[in-house]
Amino acid sequence: MNLILLGAPGAGKGTQAEKICDKYGIPAVSTGNIIREAIKNGTDMGLKAKSYTDAGALVPDDVVIGIIKERLAEHDCKNGFVLDGFPRTIPQAEALDKMGVVIDKVVDIEVSDEAIAARLSGRRVCLKCGATYHTEYKKSKTEGICDICGDELVQRKDDKPETVLDRLRVYHEQTEPLKDYYEKTGKLVIVEGQEKVEDTTALVFKTLED
Ligand code: AP5
Repeated sequence: MNLILLGAPGAGKGTQAEKICDKYGIPAVSTGNIIREAIKNGTDMGLKAKSYTDAGALVPDDVVIGIIKERLAEHDCKNGFVLDGFPRTIPQAEALDKMGVVIDKVVDIEVSDEAIAARLSGRRVCLKCGATYHTEYKKSKTEGICDICGDELVQRKDDKPETVLDRLRVYHEQTEPLKDYYEKTGKLVIVEGQEKVEDTTALVFKTLED
């Protein structure tokens, strides 16, 4: 099963990608996570990407298309994958088509901009193991400490309120048009993502089983 998860920043793509991976045993491919890892490791790509992500802007298409080409060629993607955060522009979607990748479903998680702002301002992440929490909706057992590896939890630089507004603007301008793009292929399914995580997961699983 080859899937794309669409949705605004903070709509819950990463959260739902994890649930799909656990249930179906396929890897989640998150361009955001790959880019953050490259920034942390100070690679050439990470250095190039940092100024864009910090400002809430998109990293240039050629960079992310290169990342995806390499990642999808890896062995663990042979039996399927969930794309979380790619494509994000029409040229990225066209590049995916040109690679000959056949997508089975595109699940768009819909959440209002108001709810997004609340979710992202409360998100806390562990830079060591990548786990994600929320100060209200998904608390760690000890405040500020990762349940999994015990490292400190921090707020992502791009989750600061002013940057979230920029990310939402970029989403509406550059990523939302992908809904039309995939609507035309007949593969788009829209899922209500405004309620609790478990409710969204149930809706996502249902669309995958239909
Ligand atoms: P990326 O990491 O992909 O960020 P994003 O799309 O902005 O998505 P997020 O990770 O912020 O949100 P999410 O939808 O995964 O939500 P989550 O599940 O964590 O990209 C970061 C940057 O990298 C981009 O800005 C760009 O610069 C660059 N980049 C990446 N891909 C690119 C590409 N293809 N092209 C160009 N540039 C690219 O949930 C959010 C929070 O809400 C969490 O705290 C969670 O616990 C909570 N939550 C989730 N669901 C619920 C719920 N139902 N109810 C209450 N709380 C919830």
